Parts: sequence; C-alpha cells; structure tokens
Amino acid sequence: MKSKKYFDKVAPQWDKMRQGFFSEAVRNKAFFIAGVQKGEIAADIGAGTGFVTEGLIREGLQVIAVDQSEAMLEEMKRKFASIEGIDYRLGEAEKLPILDEAVDYAFANMYLHHVVSPQKAIKEMVRILKSGGKLVITDMDEHEFEFLKDEHHDRWMGFKRKDIREWFEEAGLKNVIVDFADECCCAQSSCGDDYARISIFVASGER
Ligand SMILES: C[S@@+](CC[C@H](N)C(=O)[O-])C[C@H]1O[C@@H](n2cnc3c(N)ncnc32)[C@H](O)[C@@H]1O
Repeated sequence: MKSKKYFDKVAPQWDKMRQGFFSEAVRNKAFFIAGVQKGEIAADIGAGTGFVTEGLIREGLQVIAVDQSEAMLEEMKRKFASIEGIDYRLGEAEKLPILDEAVDYAFANMYLHHVVSPQKAIKEMVRILKSGGKLVITDMDEHEFEFLKDEHHDRWMGFKRKDIREWFEEAGLKNVIVDFADECCCAQSSCGDDYARISIFVASGER
C-alpha cells in the first residue's frame, strides 16, 4: 500500500493514533523555537488532520494546511468547520501549492520520514518562505524499528541530525539549529512484542 492510500485509510482514526505516538509538547516546542507571532501566516506541510494547524490557530496565526491525502484534509475540515483562518490545499511534497516567498513560517511535523526525497522537500519548503521566514521540522532521530516501515508506511527510519543540518544549509537557510525536542515518539507493533521509543529532533533555520 502506498503512503497516500495508507493515510486515506487511517484518517478517521489518526487523532487517536497520534495521541499514542507523541504529545502536544512537540508542537509547543516547535512554536517556541520559531517564535510565532500573532497575525502572521504559516504553512503546515503534511498537515494530516491538523495537529500543528490547531496549535497555530490558537496562537492567532493564519494557516495554509497542505497534505497529499484528501481524506486527512476532509477530516480536518470537518473538525475545524467553525474556525476561520485555515486554507486547505491538496498537494505534494515536491510541488507545494503555495507561491514563492508567501509565508512567515513553514512547519512539518512527522512528515519528512514519509517523503521520497527529504532534501527536495526541504528545498520546496524553503521556497515558500519570505525572507527572514523560518522553517521548523520535528521528526524522528535515526532508529532501527523496521516494523514502522511495514505497519505505518514510514519511508525513512528517522534521520541523522547532521544530515538534517546539511540539508537545511544546502537549501540556503542560516542560523540552523538541530536539537532534541525533549519528546519521544512511541509505538507498539501490532504483530509482535516490538515497542519503539524514538527521540524526536527539532530543526530550525531562517531564510
Ligand atoms: C505521520 S502524518 C503527520 C500528520 C500531522 N503533521 C501530525 O503531526 O499529526 C504524515 C502526513 O504527511 C502526509 N504526507 C506524506 N507524504 C506526503 C507527500 N509526499 N506530500 C504531501 N503530504 C505527504 C500524509 O498524508 C500524512 O497526513
């Protein structure tokens, strides 16, 4: 099953699944590092059902939420039907449906390990940032839990922080910081005793 099909299928359960994987502390850390300001505009890339979007709206930002999965976006639209300030866009990592230099921030939580080319995905997120805009990615450190590929359609088994730093710098970002997000991603295998507890990094850089 392709990743898009997988996320279309799990969309109605995603919020519940997500609560078991990681907590709100991840998005709070990302917002703190970005220094989000009320009234600004942010992109939530690989938005899913709106975990990051929800937090950004609470902080008073406007959000462009992008995802490849119609079902995930539909679920988010249903949840946030009464909320203004969210622009929902169906789109792919390598060709985001956002103009150049359009947003103050780009956030991507637990998205990078699903894309075919993390480097291209990072460059594409940098393209949509205004000058001085910030990219903040939260994702898993490199790990050895193969079952996440089979059961959750992960493409990459996390990342080395030094690679992330290199890709941010190659994409033209300055003031790059890659650090522990003080959070872990936890998952129980559904066909065995394997239990994954993987540290989450937070990577930030400024255009
Ligand atoms: C693990 S979920 C995370 C969702 C959300 N960011 C969260 O924290 O709950 C990954 C999301 O990225 C989306 N995604 C994966 N690959 C993508 C791609 N190539 N282009 C756009 N979205 C993608 C999936 O459809 C899914 O909604």
